[in-house]
Amino acid sequence: MNASMSSSLVLRDRFGRQITYLRISVTDRCNLRCVYCMPPEGVPHIGHDDVLRYEEILQVVELAARYGVREVRLTGGEPLVRTDLPELVRMIAAVPGIEDISLTTNGLLLDRLAEPLAQAGLKRINVSLDTLRPERFTKITRGGSFERTWAGILKAEALGLKPIKLNVVMMRGVNDDELADMALLTLDRDWHVRFIELMPIQNQAVWGDGLPLPEETYLPIAEMVARLEPLGLEACGHEEVGSGPAQEYRLRGARGKVGFISPVSEPFCEQCNRLRLTADGNLRPCLLHNIEVPIRDALRRGEDLLPYLQQAITLKPLAHELEQQHSPSGRCMRQIGG
Ligand code: 5AD
Ligand code: SF4
Repeated sequence: MNASMSSSLVLRDRFGRQITYLRISVTDRCNLRCVYCMPPEGVPHIGHDDVLRYEEILQVVELAARYGVREVRLTGGEPLVRTDLPELVRMIAAVPGIEDISLTTNGLLLDRLAEPLAQAGLKRINVSLDTLRPERFTKITRGGSFERTWAGILKAEALGLKPIKLNVVMMRGVNDDELADMALLTLDRDWHVRFIELMPIQNQAVWGDGLPLPEETYLPIAEMVARLEPLGLEACGHEEVGSGPAQEYRLRGARGKVGFISPVSEPFCEQCNRLRLTADGNLRPCLLHNIEVPIRDALRRGEDLLPYLQQAITLKPLAHELEQQHSPSGRCMRQIGG
C-alpha cells in the first residue's frame, strides 16, 4: 500500500468517532500502592512472557499510525519501572504519522529518567500527584516519597517537557482541603493542574490507615468548581493537542491552567478518540468496559493485525455505565493503565 492511499484510511467506530489516540500500558507493575488503585497487598502480576515486547508494541503502533492514530500515551502500572523505557519512546517517535508521545507517571523515577526520555523524543508528561503534604502523600500512595516525585517534576520541567500536567484525584475527607493550594500552583507556573473525580473501579474495599470509607470520598466536579470560584476561575477555549477530556479554566492572572475531568458526573464518551493496549497484549476499546480483543498470539504468529484492530473499534461502546454503578470488574486501574 502506498503512502497516499494509507493516509486516507481512518479507524472509525459505529458511532462515527475517529480513533486517533492509542494509550499503551507498558507494564502492570507499579512501585506504589495508591489506595484507590489497588489493595495494600497488591495484585498478581502478568507473567514475564505474557507482556508484550517492545518490538511487538511497535508493530501495533505502526499499524495504528497507518490508519490515522497520531497520539500515543505510555502508561502502566508505572511505566518507568519497565526496563529501558526511553528505547521504546525512541522507537515510537520514529514511526511516521505519530505526532505526539506522552507519558503518565507517578514521578518517583523521573528524576533519573526525565533526561533520557526527553532525548528519546518524549514530548510531555502527566504526573499523578494528589497532595502537596509529604505525610499525606505517603499515606495515599502507601509508602511513596513526595520529595522524590516533586524533584522528578522539577527535573522534567527544566528539560522542557511541557506543559507539565498534574493529575489530582480529589477525594472528600482525604485531600479536598488542598483543592485551593493545588490550584494555586498554576499562578506562577505554566502547569496544568487537573482535578479528577474518583472512579469506582475495584477500589471499594476499605482503605484503612484512618482514611474515610471509599464510598464517602466521591467529590463531584461541580462542587470543586464552586469551591474554586472565589479564586476567579475563567473558562479557556479547548487546546488543540492533548487537552483530552479536561474542561479547562485559568485562575485570575495565572500562568498555568486548572482542568476538571469528570468521568462520572459528565462523561466525555461522545468525543472519545481512544483505544487502549494492555501490557499483556489486549486491545481495549473503553477504559470502563471489560471488552478486550486479544492480539498477542496473533502478533506472535505473524498474522495480519488489522482485522483485530477493526474488531476492537467495532466493539467500542457508545458510553460507559458508571452512573448506573456498573463498574468494570476484570482488572483494577493499575492493570488497565488509567
Ligand atoms: N479514579 C480516578 N482516577 C484514578 N487513577 C487511578 N485510579 C483512579 C480512580 N479509581 C488515576 C491516577 C493517575 C491516572 C493514570 O489515573 O491518579 O493519574
Ligand atoms: Fe501505581 Fe498509579 Fe496505581 Fe498509584 S495510581 S498505585 S502510582 S498505578
